[in-house]
Amino acid sequence: PFVVTDSCIACKYTDCVSVCPMDCFVEGPNFLAIDPDGCIDCSMCVPECPVGAIYNETDLPEGLSHFTELNAKLAKHPGWKPITQAQAPMPDHAQWREVEGKIGMLKT
Ligand code: SF4
Ligand code: F3S
Repeated sequence: PFVVTDSCIACKYTDCVSVCPMDCFVEGPNFLAIDPDGCIDCSMCVPECPVGAIYNETDLPEGLSHFTELNAKLAKHPGWKPITQAQAPMPDHAQWREVEGKIGMLKT
């Protein structure tokens, strides 16, 4: 499956969700996860993300490998809901889009 990674945190542009043929994005307070049980590896979401947050799990940069498990876990979080329509990004997205290592900001 494909996975959403660090760059999405606190930005949440949501362009990705409208192209997914399987509707497998799930939304939390300031991050999205991909449900690995739904993803068919079509890769259509990858070019939609303005911050390049989405990778094939087989192609993850070294420092982001823990996001595979995190996506799987958050996709089943009882408070997280499927999202299929794009919406406005987080209010402070411009401030955070170039920042790396935002995992400490992740809200669940
Ligand atoms: Fe959806 Fe395809 Fe992206 Fe998987 S790779 S999340 S199926 S758009
Ligand atoms: Fe996140 Fe990029 Fe989608 S910022 S919400 S993965 S378009």
